[in-house]
Amino acid sequence: MRHVAVNTGGGDAPGLNAVIRAVSLAAIHRGWRVTGIRNGYQGLEQGAEGLVPLDRDAVAGITHLGGTILGANNHGYPFTKADGLGGFSDESGAVAERFRRLGFDALIALGGDGSLGIARDLFVRHQIPVVGVPKTIDNDVAGTELSFGFESAVAVATDALDRLHPTAKSHDRVIVVELMGRNAGWIALNAGVAGTADVILIPEIPFRIESVCEKIQERERTGRHFSIVVVAEGARPIGHSQITREDGVGAKIGRLGGIAREVAMDIERETGKDTRELVLGHLQRGGQPVASDRLLSLRLGVAAVRAVEEGKFGTMVALRCGHIDTVSLEEGAHTRHVPLDCDLIATARDLGICLGD
Ligand code: F6P
Repeated sequence: MRHVAVNTGGGDAPGLNAVIRAVSLAAIHRGWRVTGIRNGYQGLEQGAEGLVPLDRDAVAGITHLGGTILGANNHGYPFTKADGLGGFSDESGAVAERFRRLGFDALIALGGDGSLGIARDLFVRHQIPVVGVPKTIDNDVAGTELSFGFESAVAVATDALDRLHPTAKSHDRVIVVELMGRNAGWIALNAGVAGTADVILIPEIPFRIESVCEKIQERERTGRHFSIVVVAEGARPIGHSQITREDGVGAKIGRLGGIAREVAMDIERETGKDTRELVLGHLQRGGQPVASDRLLSLRLGVAAVRAVEEGKFGTMVALRCGHIDTVSLEEGAHTRHVPLDCDLIATARDLGICLGD
């Protein structure tokens, strides 16, 4: 009998509970035991309170639920734990020690590129037998064509654009919508094209505000007196850095936010158009996973258990050419940017959407 631990690192994403259920049922099916670690790796420090036995009852009826029954945590990671003095210390040895003392045979780690980097380091530096599962609404984990959570976020963002269009049109306004996407513009590009935005600004293409305003004025000249501008939170004008609101509590990286306001103010000043901005924020991470995300989550969760069974540690389960495969965790620990020569960029340009360049 094997004892498998599962945790959810980084921010939450729709589909986490479906993966937890799939991991649990596939492991129980093999006669194994499964335990969830609460709040990333923090649960390991809390004794029994930090651990959740995942039997059939514990994972019943959770496939469609957003969030994570294990709790999420995107700070306080073992290699960079805040020391309370403004610095960070490496607690990874202690984490590995606790993991072993609890008698786990494997860890299935659900996370984005940051959390998967931690999983990789636990495998490489402390020989913790890990299998990763790519999670992120940003869809920026390298090595997989898709991460679960992304399609649900795109659906919410597209719905928001659909709802904003009538107001923009009725009031002859410009509405600037800030979507998530720290280093990669997948959500903004996909929702922007699906939601027929007029301008889409993504981190991969630093923009010129003149180009954005020119697009709005061109629409004005042709009788379209409203525009929808989509901007990823990590987008920035050429020569400027990303806008961070404040440093997150205990976080190593600043919180992004505020680019929509800057863009809206510039547009209003340069074009004279009545302009509003909206930050969609965590609405994109909440709520139920769409059916395709549930399916991907269930497939990835079961595949992770198969990888444990086959002793494929130091790997991540991934979607490749429509099939679930394993790739090295090293691959998953990197950011997958929107390639500038991809089909969707070409599609956007041919649809007349301004990408700010
Ligand atoms: O990585 C997912 C993500 O939603 C990013 O797009 C965003 O910058 C970040 O998480 C927000 O994190 P928090 O929940 O800490 O505000």
